[in-house]
Order: sequence, then structure tokens, then C-alpha cells
Amino acid sequence: MYQEQPAENVIWQQHIVSRKHREEQTKQPARIRHHKGAVIWLTGLSGSGKSTIACALEHKLHKNGYRTFILDGDNVRHGLSRDLGFSIDDRAENIRRIGEVARLFVEAGVLTITAFISPLRSERDQIRQLFKQNDFFEIYCQCPIETCEQRDVKGLYKKARAGKIPQFTGINSPYEPPANPELLINTMQDEVPQSVARIETLLKQQNIIN
Ligand code: ADX
Repeated sequence: MYQEQPAENVIWQQHIVSRKHREEQTKQPARIRHHKGAVIWLTGLSGSGKSTIACALEHKLHKNGYRTFILDGDNVRHGLSRDLGFSIDDRAENIRRIGEVARLFVEAGVLTITAFISPLRSERDQIRQLFKQNDFFEIYCQCPIETCEQRDVKGLYKKARAGKIPQFTGINSPYEPPANPELLINTMQDEVPQSVARIETLLKQQNIIN
């Protein structure tokens, strides 16, 4: 059913690179660098650092002259997926839509960074099938649930533990870690710039950026 509002407990994420920044970039063609279209698919628990890494990665890539866009769980749930909640079926549909949107962005030649819990391996594997081999990079933001819960940036773990959020990932809804991601980032140990640098290295090795 069509809804005006996103599902409960969905909080808008502000990113550093805005539409204005992207438009400004085209004023300085000399600073735009060659790159390929690709999707950098971040997966992990809520609070594992996906949005933080997505944002920092986008900022760095944009500063270096690459064209980027972030598709972020909380933001997409304000529009494209605002009719969806957090049942297994709704999450699957959410991820299916994002996969298709990411495919369009990749066709547009954009470095597309996605930050969704995307909890089920089978769903992520289906998304991978939409892309050519070197167009899709699955990056696991690994972080123990205890640490995510301690961070509790949005206060959602506390609410979930109090029984106020049904089907909260990692508490009463499953999260299946990737079996074979292109990159595993330990967000408990590594600082954000270090994680960003590792993703950049991967993209360079695969000739996505130079
Ligand atoms: S996914 O499972 O379909 O991939 P998605 O990444 O879009 O999830 O949305 C996750 C965000 O929604 C979380 O970061 C959190 O802020 C919010 N949220 C609200 N309810 C839940 C819930 N039941 N489980 C997980 N995240 C939730």
C-alpha cells in the first residue's frame, strides 16, 4: 500500500557531497578523471559504519574528480521504498529495487556506493547476477553486534532490546555475513580513512579508477 511516510525508525542521513558539488564539478572539466561505472555494495549490521564509510569514500572520490552517487538505506526508505517495512519479504523487495537502480547508475557510468544492511546472502547474490564481473564489489563492514549496540548512534538497539522494534536486524531478524566478499573491513579496528584507502586500492587494482 502507498504510504506518505517512511517506515518507523528511519532517519535521514546527510551526506557531504551534494547536488551542488556535483554540478560544480562539471565546471572544471580538467579536474574530472577517467573512471568506470561500478557499484560498491556495502553490507553490514545497523551501526556497523556503512553510511560513514560511504560518505567518506564518496567525498574522497569526488574530491579526486570522480563522479559518484550514494544510495543509502535510510534515505531510499524515504522515497523509492517508503511503502516497505522490515519483514524479510519487504527487505528483499527493497534490495531488489536498489539493485535495479544501482544498475541504472552503473549504466550512466557513475561510481555508485550503496549502504544497505542487505541481510540475506541469497538476495545479495541475486543482485550480483545483475552485474558484469567487474561492475560489482561487495564490501562487508564487519563489526560485532555488541559494538554496534554500544555505539547505538540512532538509539535503535535500545528500542529493539526494549521490544519496541519487531524484526530488528541482529536481534530478532537475521544477518548473514558474506561468504566471499571482494573486501572485508573491520570497522571496530580500522579508522575510516584507512577503510576508504583500502576500497580505493581495490578500485585501482580492478582498473575502475586510476
Ligand atoms: S535492509 O535490511 O532492507 O537492507 P536498510 O538498509 O534499507 O535495511 O535500512 C536499515 C535502516 O533502517 C537502519 O540503519 C535503521 O536506521 C533503520 N531501521 C528501522 N527499523 C529497522 C529494523 N527493524 N531493522 C533494521 N534496521 C531498521
